[in-house]
Amino acid sequence: MNSPAQYLLETRDLELAYGAFHAVNGVNLKVEAGTIHTIIGPNGAGKTSLFHCLTGERQATAGAILFNGKNIIKKPTHGRVGLGMARSFQLTSLFQNLSVRENLRLAAQGRDGLAALNFWRHVDSRREHLEMADQVLERLQLTTRADTLAGELSHGQQRVLEVGMSICSKPKLLMLDEPTSGMGIDDIPIMTQLISDLGRDHTVLLIEHNMSIVMSISHRITVMSHGQILVEGTPEFVRADERVRIAYLGEAA
Ligand SMILES: Nc1ncnc2c1ncn2[C@@H]1O[C@H](COP(=O)(O)OP(=O)(O)OP(=O)(O)O)[C@@H](O)[C@H]1O
Ligand SMILES: [Mg+2]
Repeated sequence: MNSPAQYLLETRDLELAYGAFHAVNGVNLKVEAGTIHTIIGPNGAGKTSLFHCLTGERQATAGAILFNGKNIIKKPTHGRVGLGMARSFQLTSLFQNLSVRENLRLAAQGRDGLAALNFWRHVDSRREHLEMADQVLERLQLTTRADTLAGELSHGQQRVLEVGMSICSKPKLLMLDEPTSGMGIDDIPIMTQLISDLGRDHTVLLIEHNMSIVMSISHRITVMSHGQILVEGTPEFVRADERVRIAYLGEAA
């Protein structure tokens, strides 16, 4: 029998080149199951490019991606979703003219793919999807807005709903790229609480610029700069590292 993989997600010498420019340049990332693992780094460091490689939106130009110990580098995006990798998209996945509950129900249905069209399973699975939608509504603290159209929610609540849609597929790994960007100051604590709460039963890979959020909810932090990993460790370790300070201050340092 194979022993379980030490890491849920691991990249080996991962590279993504845009022509001659390497946006991701030899990244060895190790994400332990059950952690909130945050990637930080200055603008242009390659964080989103790394996510593109992980989801398969961009084909890595070299290296390996191990998910649960299996190299998935050749798998297309939908194959990776099927293995349990989910990514939250900024406002593009919401149906503005459907209710909050209906958005969540459709996200839960999406998990079943073509099986959702099977007539004999239809009634049972519709009930399952509605139950899932109601569970997630509670988790998002949006139960009272269940029948509101998604487009009528505040921007912050829409972002929260998006994260909720990505957990409807019961992913093993949840990838969030700047979930608080563009959010008003009043909505940020709700999103922070939600991510922290999701970290109790998911592995979360987060990209975030807001340092007070990063430092308060992350178990591990990877700092990227110029397409490479600069430092990796606990929040305390990263906070104290001089190289990180210099990377953020840039040329002025
Ligand atoms: N399609 C592309 N073609 C060429 N270069 C690109 C492309 N996409 C991104 N880049 C470059 O790759 C580098 C890394 O970009 P990326 O978006 O991954 O950075 P990031 O760390 O997510 O930054 P931010 O914090 O601003 O979101 C940048 O220099 C960017 O200009
Ligand atoms: Mg980015």
